[in-house]
Amino acid sequence: MQRIFEIDPWKVVTHTLDKDNKRLQESMTSIGNEYMGMRGMFEEKYSDDTHKGIYLGGVWFPDKTRVGWWKNGYPSYFGKVINTVDFVSVDIKLNNSSIDLAKDKYSDFELALDMKKGILTRSYVVEKEDAKVKVTSVRFVSADFKELYANKLTFENLGQKAVKVEVDSFIDANVFNEDANYDERFWEVHETANTKQGSKLVSETIKNNFGTPRFTVEMVSDHKGSLESIGAFKDETKTVNSYAKNLEVGETADFEKRVVVVTSRDYDDQTSLDKAAEELSQKQSKLSFEELQEAQANVWAKRWEKADVKIKGNDESQQGIRFNLFQLFSTYYGNDARLNIGPKGFTGEKYGGATYWDTEAFAVPLYLSLAEPAVTRNLLEYRYKQLPGAFHNAKEQGLKGALYPMVTFNGIECHNEWEITFEEIHRNGTIAYAIYNYTRYTGDTEYVTHDGFDVLVGIARFWADRVHFSQRKQVYMIHGVTGPNEYENNVNNNWYTNLLAQWCLRYAKEVSSQVSPEKLSQLGLESKELATWEEIADHMYLPEDKELGIFVQHDGFLDKDLRPVSEIPADQLPLNQNWSWDHILRSPYIKQADVLQGIYYFIDEFTKEEKARNFDFYEQYTVHESSLSPSIYAIVAADLHKEEKAFELYSRTARLDLDNYNNDTEDGLHVTSMTGSWLAIVQGFAGMRVKDGKLFFAPFVPKQWDGYEFRINFRGRLLEVKASKDVSKVSLLEGSALTINLNGKDLELK
Ligand code: BGC
Repeated sequence: MQRIFEIDPWKVVTHTLDKDNKRLQESMTSIGNEYMGMRGMFEEKYSDDTHKGIYLGGVWFPDKTRVGWWKNGYPSYFGKVINTVDFVSVDIKLNNSSIDLAKDKYSDFELALDMKKGILTRSYVVEKEDAKVKVTSVRFVSADFKELYANKLTFENLGQKAVKVEVDSFIDANVFNEDANYDERFWEVHETANTKQGSKLVSETIKNNFGTPRFTVEMVSDHKGSLESIGAFKDETKTVNSYAKNLEVGETADFEKRVVVVTSRDYDDQTSLDKAAEELSQKQSKLSFEELQEAQANVWAKRWEKADVKIKGNDESQQGIRFNLFQLFSTYYGNDARLNIGPKGFTGEKYGGATYWDTEAFAVPLYLSLAEPAVTRNLLEYRYKQLPGAFHNAKEQGLKGALYPMVTFNGIECHNEWEITFEEIHRNGTIAYAIYNYTRYTGDTEYVTHDGFDVLVGIARFWADRVHFSQRKQVYMIHGVTGPNEYENNVNNNWYTNLLAQWCLRYAKEVSSQVSPEKLSQLGLESKELATWEEIADHMYLPEDKELGIFVQHDGFLDKDLRPVSEIPADQLPLNQNWSWDHILRSPYIKQADVLQGIYYFIDEFTKEEKARNFDFYEQYTVHESSLSPSIYAIVAADLHKEEKAFELYSRTARLDLDNYNNDTEDGLHVTSMTGSWLAIVQGFAGMRVKDGKLFFAPFVPKQWDGYEFRINFRGRLLEVKASKDVSKVSLLEGSALTINLNGKDLELK
């Protein structure tokens, strides 16, 4: 655990420039507005270790695959949202010398991310070249004006002499991705131009041989404030606009950099891009910084009104949940149906901003409750539109039906690790489960019986082809897989995968009775095929150990050297940073919920004893080295009334990044896992379930808290749940009357 920010219910704030943990500070002060986002790197020069990362949602590049030994079926590219042209950097000079906090003398440093308003500020006093100046920076990407980035710098002369302050403002295409497979630069510049007031740079992602779209990005900057223009410069890859002023002792000056960013995702050709950039530039120009800031704060205020979780009596937890919701909404708020939720959002390069099963498994349940149903429906439609890619993936493996990718932008698998691409087929189950989850939560059956049914049939056909029949045991099996626990590869009969395959086949068959005959004939689905699905599902092998009374993670699991995690010396954890991969694969240690993931999905379908035995057995071997893991264990623990345990597990997810639990937050935040802390509170502590269209709650308050409250949407209503030590209350804030169940009793809310 490593905590470098102070505890504050609404802010992520520090008074230390932690040079040894600069990347960690940057990850934690990331900002975004779904359309674009960036890490918290400084705008001005910083010559020591830093990771400048600025990303545009959906602007990605197919980086040629790099593997040691090519195997048939490998995806030919590894897609990634690439670091975009740098429109943030400035060079601030005092008496002609650049400020560089890596070297300069400074004091009164403050760095604060205001989560209530969505604004990042930083200030410090710097002393150099006979000057002493207080510098303040305020920046945001607008949640109200998606194409706009705004940064205001203020300078106050605190020295004994006049000082010349100069700002050189850049748009610079000399950027690269740290994770580029062949050290290529991904941007080709088409145009650079500048005026006194600002500049323009048009660039396009370089050509690729994979037939995926190239993206054009146009950036137009505009500068305001009391510094005066002293010149402009451009070359083939960058533009610079320079401004300066002599500040008398005690005098203050300010400088604003605004950049409008438009892309070919929204406009078809260069003429429309130019026109849009021009219009948007004019629009922002009419607004003052204060007006822009106010609009930003208003959007965030509305978001918080719907989604805030209030935790009484524990500011650490309070800050944790707000940070998680803030970063999640900065990544995705459901405004653009073409986008999805990358595991690290806009906060780092790892996972490349691509779509993973994380969306359906972890984000969908949260967006169902915190956003309009249309948002989740968009997430589902995203997969429907990628069905051709899923057919392609199955075909690549010589299989029928649809295999949804583990990592993708367009439906085509674009990750190049064998075990992930070829073996982690369990993700197909979650794609189907999300359709079920949406349907039961919203009551909307239109999707599942139309586009959603195409997805279910594609998935069912895949499973029906991927299983094989064991003559010896007279059951269907699935060999050669990796389950959610990526610390074991090529296992046979992963209980979770087989369970999900069985469930998918049954669910697709069940839904087939609700769809139109036209739909059935369009899909060529006949009773013979449905009967085959039923036969496979009824004879699916689900490994169990009767003596231990548990489901067995996979065929060989119980023959491993079963020693609990508590026997691993502390200095060998986390395993993925200390053990060889071979050692990890042979060990019994579980990276993330596997059997427990299946129990979580169908939590009301297992007996209390079954759940307890499996929880107790698997928990002792689970290292939770995926941030997706502890929340699932927390929910099952809460279901079992293991309240202390539930809180302990919740704590690992609640402040995972704020406390750098997994020692890897410098690479970026665990955005998709951030949903887990909300799930642990709502589905765990408050026991929220949906059964037959009715909401159930059974809240308890962890002893570390005095109480908590949250709001959810449910079928056109807005509900508020308040839990304190001695009483729980559910109120209907908006919408028509409904019956809910609280602690086993039906209550009608009016
Ligand atoms: C997990 C996967 C997850 C991915 C992205 C991995 O560490 O094992 O389940 O999809 O991270 O979050």
